[in-house]
Amino acid sequence: MSSGGRRRLALVAALALVVLAADAGVTSEYRRKLEATVEMPLDADVFRVPPGYNAPQQVHITLGNQEGTAMIVSWVTPSELGSSTVMYGGAPHKLELRAEGTHTRYDYFNYTSGFIHHCTLKNLKHSSKYYYAMGFGHTVRTFWFTTPPKPGPDAPYKFGLIGDLGQTFDSNRTLSHYESNGGDAVLFVGDLSYADNHPLHDNNRWDTWARFVERSVAYQPWIWTAGNHELDFAPELGETTPFKPFSHRYPTPYRAAGSTEPFWYSVKIASAHVIVLASYSAYGKYTPQWTWLQDELKRVDRKTTPWLLVLMHSPWYNSNGYHYMEGETMRVQFEQWLVDAKADLVLAGHVHAYERSHRVSNVAYDIVNGKSTPVRDQGAPVYVTIGDGGNIEGIADNFTRPQPSYSAFREASFGHATLEIKNRTHAYYAWHRNQDGAKVVADGLWLTNRYWMPTDDTN
Ligand SMILES: *[C@@H]1O[C@H](CO)[C@@H](O)[C@H](O)[C@H]1NC(C)=O
Ligand SMILES: *[C@@H]1O[C@H](CO)[C@@H](O)[C@H](O)[C@H]1NC(C)=O
Ligand SMILES: *[C@@H]1O[C@H](CO)[C@@H](O)[C@H](O)[C@H]1NC(C)=O
Ligand SMILES: *[C@@H]1O[C@H](CO)[C@@H](O)[C@H](O)[C@H]1NC(C)=O
Ligand SMILES: [Fe+2]
Repeated sequence: MSSGGRRRLALVAALALVVLAADAGVTSEYRRKLEATVEMPLDADVFRVPPGYNAPQQVHITLGNQEGTAMIVSWVTPSELGSSTVMYGGAPHKLELRAEGTHTRYDYFNYTSGFIHHCTLKNLKHSSKYYYAMGFGHTVRTFWFTTPPKPGPDAPYKFGLIGDLGQTFDSNRTLSHYESNGGDAVLFVGDLSYADNHPLHDNNRWDTWARFVERSVAYQPWIWTAGNHELDFAPELGETTPFKPFSHRYPTPYRAAGSTEPFWYSVKIASAHVIVLASYSAYGKYTPQWTWLQDELKRVDRKTTPWLLVLMHSPWYNSNGYHYMEGETMRVQFEQWLVDAKADLVLAGHVHAYERSHRVSNVAYDIVNGKSTPVRDQGAPVYVTIGDGGNIEGIADNFTRPQPSYSAFREASFGHATLEIKNRTHAYYAWHRNQDGAKVVADGLWLTNRYWMPTDDTN
């Protein structure tokens, strides 16, 4: 071929690329400074131990049943057992109701936990503010929460979406931004404290983390997903029970959801049915999680809870070099079910960057037919990777190039997102990067419900 011919070919190829690019997603040019993430020091204000002898610390709440009429209250007393009682009621000086909790402790290598209390408040009214107090006999502390509205098709609700938070200065920025944006509950997609990144999995870092996030999670429920940093599996330390610190500290309402393990379960909140899956528990055919999910999807009633949200730690659609394809085996196992169920949104963490997909599915492949490329599918969920909470491991700044066609927007910055459900058909999704003011939306779109209004909403 002549050089002119080669040039013409190059031009045609370049034009073809431009045409292709027009259909592809956005890799945001915005770059956070790639400074190291720095853990907040042990004497940081956010880790302060509350004053008073044996004062309850690390207070956190999560939903206690399927309907939002129970709340599990957890806290730690450091010096002695004290009381596991919670008094609660509609006004701070009228705590007329009483619930008895239980307590637990655990050892991890040479660490011994404080006294970890769990107490479930039952028979709560929907959409009601409750004050609650614990620490009787020593130092009493009082908090409050508002129960979610009764599950119903047009009950509005605003979720915060946070993942891989850790306890660095960036983690604190993420949490502060979320607080300014004001959600009603957090869907947390796993990797809480990163205690396991410290020598001997220093479990004091589980305590500091819980003191750090108390300012939010004592006042609104966070829905927990187990990530790989919750495993704390360390045979070299003689610690061979996976999830030991996490499961002692963070109960979930799994029994109410018909599950047999705390790591996969569901809750109904307002107009959403939220399914939590476990990336680090067995999910192959015939396993307990597989069996449960199959039954659970039959229990989803889109006429009562139009929005079907699924949480997991390891993403199925991720185009970052970090953790690339780690979620693939679970995708192969469950993707068809979520497409058939018309799931609206699948949230994951694990990758320390932000990414949102188009509505795609990749369910046609059968090993020999070659149909292994994800295709646009208006019946399929949007996949969001929100592992950009700001933990000590830093940002995952290594996207694969070119950007795959399933990826709509991706950026290597820390932040959080919110999902504001308005009614059965519309929800506004927004991702906020930490470098902007809290109200600035760096990636936002209206999602329409896959059951009630399956319109083309991601382009
Ligand atoms: C964390 O953020 C809060 C709220 O913005 C602030 O008051 C506090 O000083 C911060 N702490 C650290 C260690 O950055
Ligand atoms: C646990 O062991 C480490 C390493 O030997 C030591 O530095 C630390 O002080 C020990 N902690 C306790 C509570 O004994
Ligand atoms: C970036 O990701 C690619 C895989 O897409 C991998 O081969 C490469 O080693 C990664 N680079 C870094 C610096 O991690
Ligand atoms: C649902 O909410 C959207 C967005 O606020 C609004 O445009 C739409 O009219 C609402 N639908 C109904 C039936 O109220
Ligand atoms: Fe992770």
